[in-house]
Amino acid sequence: LTVVLLFGGRSSEHSISCATAGGVLAALDPERYTVIPVGITRDGAYVLEDNDPAKFALNAQALPVVADNGTRVRWPQSASSRELTVVDAFGERSLGSVDLIFPILHGPFGEDGTIQGMLDLLNLPYIGSGVLASALGMDKHFAKTVFQQAALPVAPWRTLTADDWARDPGVGYAALEQLGLPAFVKPARAGSSVGVSRVATPDQLAEAMAVGLAEDNKVLIESGLVGRELEIAVLQGRPGEPTRASLAGEVVVTGRDFYDFAAKYLDAPGVELVCPAPLSAAELAEVQSLAIAAFEAIGGAGLARVDFFLTATGWVINEINTMPGFTSISMFPTCWLASGYTYPELIDELISVAIA
Ligand code: DAL
Ligand code: MG
Repeated sequence: LTVVLLFGGRSSEHSISCATAGGVLAALDPERYTVIPVGITRDGAYVLEDNDPAKFALNAQALPVVADNGTRVRWPQSASSRELTVVDAFGERSLGSVDLIFPILHGPFGEDGTIQGMLDLLNLPYIGSGVLASALGMDKHFAKTVFQQAALPVAPWRTLTADDWARDPGVGYAALEQLGLPAFVKPARAGSSVGVSRVATPDQLAEAMAVGLAEDNKVLIESGLVGRELEIAVLQGRPGEPTRASLAGEVVVTGRDFYDFAAKYLDAPGVELVCPAPLSAAELAEVQSLAIAAFEAIGGAGLARVDFFLTATGWVINEINTMPGFTSISMFPTCWLASGYTYPELIDELISVAIA
C-alpha cells in the first residue's frame, strides 16, 4: 500500500504537524507500506521530503519545519489517475500510484476542509474527516452552533469579527460583562491554543482581542469554565461497526493559567497528562457518549479528539479536533494506548478504516 504523508502546511501549527509526521513516519511498517513524505512549506509549496523521523522529532528548542528544498511534487493530472510525480534538478519522475493520503495537517489550509476539497477533486482517498466536518471542526463558532443544535452542552459565548470590534469595542466589553470573568478570547479558526488569551479583568480585553485577531478575523469570547479538563479520542468504526471512544485523558494544570502552546509543545512546566483519568463508570460512559455524539453531529470520519470540562453542573464540550496532535506523547495516541492500541496499531487502524 502506498501512502502519502502530507504535513507541514501554511497554518501557525506547521511545526506541530511536522512533529506528528515524525511520529507517524517512525511507526509505519516499511514491510507493509511504501511511504511518500510530502511536506508543505509555510509558503504552500509541495516538496518531496526525507523519510527521516528524527528530522521531524518534536524539539522544544528548535521546532521542526518543512524547508523549501527546491523539489516540487505534482498531483495527478486528472481524477482518473493516481500518479504523483516530482520535479527536481534531474527533471520530472514518477513517484508511483498512490493508494491513500494521510493529511496530518493542523489548522487552516489542512484541517479545515481545504485540502480535503482538493483531494476530493483529485479523487484521492484520504484519512479523516471530509470537507464539511473538517470545516465545522475548525471553526469554533460553527462547531458550537452545531453542538448546541444537537443538544450537546457548550459554554456560553459571543462571536465578534474584526469589523465588529473596530466599529464598536463596546460590544466586546458588554459580552465580557454578560459572560463573566475570567473569560477566554480565542481565534475562531486556529489550534494548539495559538492566539488564545485568558482575560481576568476587563482591561485585558483589548490586548486579548489584538492577539486573537492576529490569527483570524473572527474571534470568540467564551465564559471561562471551572472544572477538570478531560479529552476523549474517537475512532470511526470499521464498516457496520459503531464509532469507538477511548478512555478519558486528563490535562492537569497546576502551575499556569491554562493549557497553552508552551505547555503543549515547549516542555513548559505546570501541566501533566494523565490517562486513564480517574472517573466513575457513569461519568466515563457519559463523556464517551457525548464525544461520539459530537463526532457524529459534525459528520466526522476517521478520527477526532473531543475536549471537555467536567464542571459542577456536568460535562461541557470545549471543542472537537478533526486532526488531533499525534506525536507519540500527544493525548490522542496516549488515550488509545490506555484503551488497547499501540501507536503503530492505531495508525494501521486509521489506514484500514479509510480504505475499507
Ligand atoms: N490542534 C492540536 C494539534 C490538537 O488539537 O491536538
Ligand atoms: Mg483545537
